Amino acid sequence: MVVHSSPLSFQVLFLVLTILLQIESHQIEDVAAKVEHLPGFDGPLPFHLETGYVGLGDTDDDLQVFYYFIKSENDPKNDPLMLWLTGGPGCSSFSGLVYQIGPIKFKIEEYNGSLPNLVLRPQSWTKVSSIIFADLPIGTGFSYAKNVTAHRSHSKLINHTHLFIRKWLLEHPEFLSNKFYMGADSYSGIPAPGVVQEILNGNDQGLQPWINLQGYLLGNPITTGKESNDKMQYTHGMALISDELYLCLSGINPSYILGEDCKVDFLMDDEGTQGRLLTQKLEELFSYHPMGQLPECSQGIACERGMHV
Ligand SMILES: *[C@@H]1O[C@H](CO)[C@@H](O)[C@H](O)[C@H]1NC(C)=O
Ligand SMILES: *[C@@H]1O[C@H](CO)[C@@H](O)[C@H](O)[C@H]1NC(C)=O
Ligand SMILES: *[C@@H]1O[C@H](CO)[C@@H](O)[C@H](O)[C@H]1NC(C)=O
Repeated sequence: MVVHSSPLSFQVLFLVLTILLQIESHQIEDVAAKVEHLPGFDGPLPFHLETGYVGLGDTDDDLQVFYYFIKSENDPKNDPLMLWLTGGPGCSSFSGLVYQIGPIKFKIEEYNGSLPNLVLRPQSWTKVSSIIFADLPIGTGFSYAKNVTAHRSHSKLINHTHLFIRKWLLEHPEFLSNKFYMGADSYSGIPAPGVVQEILNGNDQGLQPWINLQGYLLGNPITTGKESNDKMQYTHGMALISDELYLCLSGINPSYILGEDCKVDFLMDDEGTQGRLLTQKLEELFSYHPMGQLPECSQGIACERGMHV
């Protein structure tokens, strides 16, 4: 049942949810509320935000998935609908909303201990599509189960996400005919294609409701859980490092990056060591600094070898 309540601040909503959580938890299955104000945002929200839970049922563990749903600010009747999983694993989908593609973001200002301010993000993807930001896997954000550790596996995450979207659509039948896309970033690059496969299989088997699946998109994804060396190819492809450095880095493990193009003369002992140091340097840079905010390369080996960041 979808309940559209009168204007409700996020704080009040949170309080209500907290109280409800203490009551028999299956009673709150599939509760949704429109949120019109958020603390830190000046005035009523100029877009349609709904938050709620979808209960996945089926087990004694009372799986409850929390979501934020934002209607397209353009033409929600005809614009696509996207389900977005954010990375981690372990990040609340609120991070995808507020740091990446949603209609609000934190105002960048000196922190003085008060509640952070929120401002609009003009490039929000909700300008052209409706987006469901789901707290999945269970245990992230406000989603929960009686035994969260019992539900930690890719296969369960894929099945939960699949079940979630079908149940969500049952509660929101007005979106059944919209084009549907799966979207994910970072760690969720691993489960997203699996979710899409399950949706396709489910459609083929006649599961209801039918999902109007059009495709999926991945941003900055991890794809296998094992490969992390694609940063080297990416950095080279974006001309952030020189050909020479790329070849040098290739020497660390030729089959890993460049194979036969790697010039063996680079691979003197000390070059190999330098290469390893450079790899570490790159790892550091990419771990701590989002693209576009890389620190000036002041001195040392990276600059000597022509790394322009
Ligand atoms: C902290 O900043 C907020 C605005 O960001 C302002 O409303 C508040 O008065 C400030 N508090 C102090 C103690 O400076
Ligand atoms: C929770 O699930 C894990 C993994 O299945 C299991 O080892 C553990 O005993 C469970 N805990 C409870 C309290 O049921
Ligand atoms: C997920 O669902 C598929 C069927 O779509 C099933 O074969 C598989 O066992 C399920 N995995 C888990 C962990 O429940």
